[in-house]
Amino acid sequence: MTEKRYTITAALPYANGPVHIGHIAGCYLPADIYVRHLKAQGKDVLFICGSDEHGVPITIRAKKEGLSPQQVVDKYHHLMRKAFDDFGIEFTYYGRTSAPIHHQTSADFFKQIYTHGGFTEETTEQYYDPIANQFLADRYITGTCPKCGNPSAYGDQCEKCGSTLSPTDLIEPKSAISGEKPIMKATKNWFLPLDVLQQKYINEYIKSHETDWKTNVYGQCNSWLADGLRPRAMTRDLDWGVPVPVEGAEGKVLYVWFDAPIGYISATKEYFETQAAQGIGNKNDWEKYWVKDEQVNQQLIHFIGKDNIVFHCIIFPATLMALNETSDKKYIYADQVPANEFLNLEGEKISTSRNWAVWLHEYLEDFADRTDELRYYLTAIAPETKDSDFTWKGYQLAVNSELVAILGNFVNRGVVLCHKFFEGKVPANNGWGEKEELLFAELEKTTAHIYELIEKFNFREAQNQLIQLFRNGNKYFAETEPWHLIKTDVNQTATVINTALQYTASLGILCQAFLPKTYKQIASLLHIDSSEMVLSKVGNRHILEVGSEIAPAIHLFKNIEDAEIEKQIQKLEQSKINNQLEKLAEATVAEAKPEIQFEDFSKIDIRVATILDAVKVPKTDKLLQLSIDTGIDKRTVVSGIAAYHKPEDIIGKQILVLVNLAPRKMKGIDSQGMILMAQDTDGKLIFVAPENKVDNGSGVS
Ligand code: 2FM
Ligand code: ZN
Repeated sequence: MTEKRYTITAALPYANGPVHIGHIAGCYLPADIYVRHLKAQGKDVLFICGSDEHGVPITIRAKKEGLSPQQVVDKYHHLMRKAFDDFGIEFTYYGRTSAPIHHQTSADFFKQIYTHGGFTEETTEQYYDPIANQFLADRYITGTCPKCGNPSAYGDQCEKCGSTLSPTDLIEPKSAISGEKPIMKATKNWFLPLDVLQQKYINEYIKSHETDWKTNVYGQCNSWLADGLRPRAMTRDLDWGVPVPVEGAEGKVLYVWFDAPIGYISATKEYFETQAAQGIGNKNDWEKYWVKDEQVNQQLIHFIGKDNIVFHCIIFPATLMALNETSDKKYIYADQVPANEFLNLEGEKISTSRNWAVWLHEYLEDFADRTDELRYYLTAIAPETKDSDFTWKGYQLAVNSELVAILGNFVNRGVVLCHKFFEGKVPANNGWGEKEELLFAELEKTTAHIYELIEKFNFREAQNQLIQLFRNGNKYFAETEPWHLIKTDVNQTATVINTALQYTASLGILCQAFLPKTYKQIASLLHIDSSEMVLSKVGNRHILEVGSEIAPAIHLFKNIEDAEIEKQIQKLEQSKINNQLEKLAEATVAEAKPEIQFEDFSKIDIRVATILDAVKVPKTDKLLQLSIDTGIDKRTVVSGIAAYHKPEDIIGKQILVLVNLAPRKMKGIDSQGMILMAQDTDGKLIFVAPENKVDNGSGVS
């Protein structure tokens, strides 16, 4: 059994928001590098992904956006697919879990296990909203965290202290739908007996991967097993998802973590059906990638982030184990699950709700065509063994000092010198010396090392080794100095340029997995058909024919200017300001605050003032800088009202100001006080002002 066949999956992203750099670095980019590396070796590989369109995250987003869940998933499915395409993540197929074939496949799997007695039925008490008439998913229950007192903890997690919770842990639980106190109500659901499956199969399966899985992955599985698995409900009382295909289950859907990984299989089926419809292959070929074939060494590899480990290493295999008990068709389980840790942004956790992220589609708007630059930096800082941090300055440094100064510079020098000294035609190799032998010996050794590193999912170091090869190229130029040599020895100069160009061709091939655009550009610079640039040619001293023409030099990369980075940092700053303003706005519409005493109120000094001048704070959308006359003094206040009021409209206006608020710096300006505003139902901020004109400095009581 020598033939290897690879089924590679990348976690199906929830279709509830666009794709950001954290997703890319954690899962899609390493998967794409791995797949490109396999394909470059001519391996049989299928790369599957798609949108995860079920589950509570989708229904929550739909509520927030005032759309139906279907409208939400339609919107984000297309946006995500486009971002992956534009960024050059080359899936064999990108499916979606709302597809009929997915509903059918996951319902069939469930039914098959059910009919075979593979589920247990249990009636449990769950929180129910008596006003909204529905059971509440964990995320739909909020309350006070018993660990840290955060009043807005969710039924499954407190985002403030990070504790995992159950809805019944919450103090004073409330329904996020109606705001009502939920009641307990009995409901029947179907459970996968993970405790039984653990003893029968899972312990052994996980144990068999003790040495070949990453330590973070194996460690997490082991600790779940050590705690003892418990039966887990595979159905939920929700109205969005795949309906449970058994009698008595009306109003229930399959648990999203039951159906989502089956999405890998249904997307594969859909791919082969689509192909077959175009006369290519057979629609049953999907089985080659999912059903055990003793004649083939099938490798199933799931690329995921660390929050998905238990689902891919335990729950999905357990589903397939239960399914395999029902028939002779045996599904394969994961051979490898190279889960990454998380990527942070400028020292803080990436957060969709706080807009603390670099969105892929926005990156592509600002840095069109600079896809390899982002691939390069994200791989250079990949969170392979621990969380890592994306900074815009780090990105700039990586591009300027590595891609421009090392990689681009080396390629450019060889091409420029070939044009300068040899009319753009590859000169002859007139005999190698020690330096050439050494350069290619290092290439051979490092290439083997790069392969090993990729096979161990250590892409970060593999790419680092690749850059080292370009460094060696620059060193070769520095040692041979062809720009001086040409004056004394044309033949030897020809050898140097020949060597440099042949070496460039090899390195171009090695770029293929990491920097696909650069790989193509090098091929076109050297006038080689990229189909000729195959991995087996790396190290070949005669990839380019002597006398063949090469293209004029181009700069593969250009420096990222400070202003470009500043713009991105400003964008993030703006997110911070928006969050602060939103918090303030939330506080304004919040419920009644606890009672205070008159002494507390008397500390507050609110005065009538007049706006003397107003200007927009540069590089922000929301802030106005106001000069005001408070009757006591003239001072500056920064206020987040630019979206609602034009500076010229408010000069001369009387307003109310909290004058004894401690000064705060906003965008480098000392803001001395706070303008009192009321918020209307659309969120617009409106001035609170005296009914008739009064003297500036008049107190408010
Ligand atoms: O965490 C997530 O974004 C999930 N939608 C991943 C699902 S992976 C697979 F099981 F489909
Ligand atoms: Zn907490």
